[in-house]
Amino acid sequence: MSNINVGIIGFGTVGAGTVEILFENRDIILNRVGSEIIVKKIADLDTQSDRGFPIDPDLLTTDAMEIIHDPQIDIVVELMGGKEKAKDYILKAMENGKHVVTANKALLAEHGEEIYRAAEQFGVGVAFEASVGGGIPIIRALKDGLSANRISTIMGILNGTSNYILTRMTQEGLPYSEAVKEAIELGYAEAPPTLDVDGTDAAHKLAILISIIYGTPVPFDDIYREGIENLVPEDIRFAGQFGYCIKMLAITRNLGDRIEARVHPTMVSLDHIMANVNGAYNAIYVEGDFVGPNLYYGLGAGRRPTGSAVVSDIIYLARQLCNGISKPMPPLAHASPQEKEIPIQPMETLRAAYYFRFSANDRPGVLSKISGILGDHEISISNVIQKGRKVNGSVPVVMLTHEARESSVSKALSRLDSLDVLTDKTMVIRVEGE
Ligand code: NDP
Ligand code: HSE
Repeated sequence: MSNINVGIIGFGTVGAGTVEILFENRDIILNRVGSEIIVKKIADLDTQSDRGFPIDPDLLTTDAMEIIHDPQIDIVVELMGGKEKAKDYILKAMENGKHVVTANKALLAEHGEEIYRAAEQFGVGVAFEASVGGGIPIIRALKDGLSANRISTIMGILNGTSNYILTRMTQEGLPYSEAVKEAIELGYAEAPPTLDVDGTDAAHKLAILISIIYGTPVPFDDIYREGIENLVPEDIRFAGQFGYCIKMLAITRNLGDRIEARVHPTMVSLDHIMANVNGAYNAIYVEGDFVGPNLYYGLGAGRRPTGSAVVSDIIYLARQLCNGISKPMPPLAHASPQEKEIPIQPMETLRAAYYFRFSANDRPGVLSKISGILGDHEISISNVIQKGRKVNGSVPVVMLTHEARESSVSKALSRLDSLDVLTDKTMVIRVEGE
């Protein structure tokens, strides 16, 4: 088989990592594929910046169309990010018969259906290992290694930036804003980091994992998401006093006729398997009906780990090309995609244990008022901390509850937050594993 020619669109963090691996590990890749993988062209708006290794200027262009229309290029690798333009480039490349690799989780979560349909229509492969979990091969695990199983649960730390921020706030007591700054400097965060910290990025990744489990895209907007922006170091300290830490978890469970799909800051016991996943590391816990529990752990962001996942996709497609496989594997690895959308359980019906931090006036009777209203809504308290120390003029009253219904919690809080003894909106964090 002749060489496999690759064109890369986007020579930023992941693009540079990808090219560096293709250059540096050329010999082992050649041996594993059986053909040479040649970087034929790299498109980026900026062709001048130093990417950390020598690059032949003739390889660079500012025009992605040079790659998309090059008849010698077999695989187009989209690493520019963004949605509309990236989608147009991918669809055009597929129309031109090119196989596609992308790390673009936002695009796949929100427009995956259109891309998967085009791949089938034009008979090309599309691979997206880097879109979830950075360097962790979770997509291939679900598509191949676990393909004999019905998957009942996935629980993941899927966003490296928010995990890094929470870790720094927990271990060093850093304020939120300083931890965010560090995550940007280290190249974990997207620019701007809004989607990392508000839960959207983790929800994108959860949507991709769910689509592989069931063989159909999920309605992205139905996935509940809540970010870490409002957490304060105090919540992290109180969580520690109860024997918990706070992690941003993405959770899906199969409930038979519907699924849970939610992303939010979650209190997990300090001996929970997720509690020791720190820094920019991601971890994905998967439960299958025959295999039982599986855990995947690794760096979820950054140039080298993400580049590793992108190159694994290039190798995967190149092997198929070398072996003359005429029909590539369907994008979601299901022979006939489900026609029906998967219904997602509305959050109001969730049952969970909760952490509440009330900001209260330091007056007699406040605690009984709070517990009275919680009791009216059948929310039973399991633990309370009330410190006399004032924070911004109020006293924090912190409670853990037994399992309660989310709709009851919302009703109780809307009554509580209108009380004049409470000076601020109540902080609510769901507790996992009670
Ligand atoms: P970067 O912003 O570092 O790189 C993107 C590059 O693409 C930039 O150099 C940008 O140029 C260039 N670009 C933008 N538009 C065009 C265009 N029309 N033609 C050619 N080049 C263009 O992003 P990342 O490398 O971090 O991310 C790339 C993708 O990988 C995204 O989809 C991201 O979500 C995903 N991803 C990123 C991870 C990470 O750890 N960073 C991990 C997993 C996935 P300029 O800067 O001049 O605009
Ligand atoms: N910004 C993302 C994160 C990159 O922090 O997880 C990996 O997708």
